[in-house]
Amino acid sequence: MPVDVEKALRPVDNPMPPFPPKYVTLASGEHMVIRQIDRSYIPEILPHIHRLMAVERDYYDVVAARAMGELMAYYYHRVQDEYVLVAQINGELAAVVNGRLLSPEVGMSYHTISLRRGMRVGAHAFAAKMEYHIDIMKQKEVLIVAESPIGFRRWMIEYKLEKRFHIPHELGGPPSWSLTKEIFERARGSLVVGRRPVPEKLLALAKKAILPPNDPPKPPTDLLAWTRAKGDSTGTAIMGQRWALEGRNK
Ligand SMILES: CC(C)(COP(=O)(O)OP(=O)(O)OC[C@H]1O[C@@H](n2cnc3c(N)ncnc32)[C@H](O)[C@@H]1OP(=O)(O)O)[C@@H](O)C(=O)NCCC(=O)NCCS
Repeated sequence: MPVDVEKALRPVDNPMPPFPPKYVTLASGEHMVIRQIDRSYIPEILPHIHRLMAVERDYYDVVAARAMGELMAYYYHRVQDEYVLVAQINGELAAVVNGRLLSPEVGMSYHTISLRRGMRVGAHAFAAKMEYHIDIMKQKEVLIVAESPIGFRRWMIEYKLEKRFHIPHELGGPPSWSLTKEIFERARGSLVVGRRPVPEKLLALAKKAILPPNDPPKPPTDLLAWTRAKGDSTGTAIMGQRWALEGRNK
């Protein structure tokens, strides 16, 4: 009897309401559009995430490696109930966030990746993903973990998340933290910003193309992984020593 293997491999997604796009005015005065993308756009954003796997600083490498898997799993229908939101400034990719539904009441936050540093674009994109879970999908809580100190500061400390340490998180099994509806309500006035509807021209520009990020995090020019152990993640001291040995910096 012929077996449709693809049908067996592919989970059937539960219906999810769409995320209504919004825009945030950044400290620079630029407008950033945050919107949902479907599977067909994943190949456009993958190369930008892939490059971050070489960026050791701030744990971009492990976060990007894991996000690659999640985005590809979404593209190939190998994950259940996942969604992806992108943030764009002048069409350029500024942040990517994703997550999924664990159950109708509980959300599972996957990753938040900022491709433009220093303007809280990651914080705004994370807030939009929480808004999607709590306001749009009417969930009771979202399970969260941090993989970097900046992530810990942004989510656990800024939102004052609650511990759910008896629940292993899907991102490798560490103890989960929870953003509840009450926590979200507390944060609504300060951390959750942005306006709707997005002006037509602004949305059209974002939808026209996902352009490459104009100043993404980059790896150091000399990739010496062990420099982190020396407390020198950019490798400058190591390169300086090498130049000294070579007699180049006389
Ligand atoms: C966590 C993250 C999403 C936060 O994004 P964000 O809100 O846009 O914030 P930034 O990363 O730009 O800035 C965070 C801090 O880094 C510093 N920073 C700013 N510009 C920077 C730059 N160009 N390079 C390095 N650090 C910078 C600032 O001190 C800022 O501190 P603040 O809290 O006082 O504002 C982002 O740091 C990121 O993508 N990190 C790598 C992946 C990751 O850890 N994701 C979260 C997994 S839990």
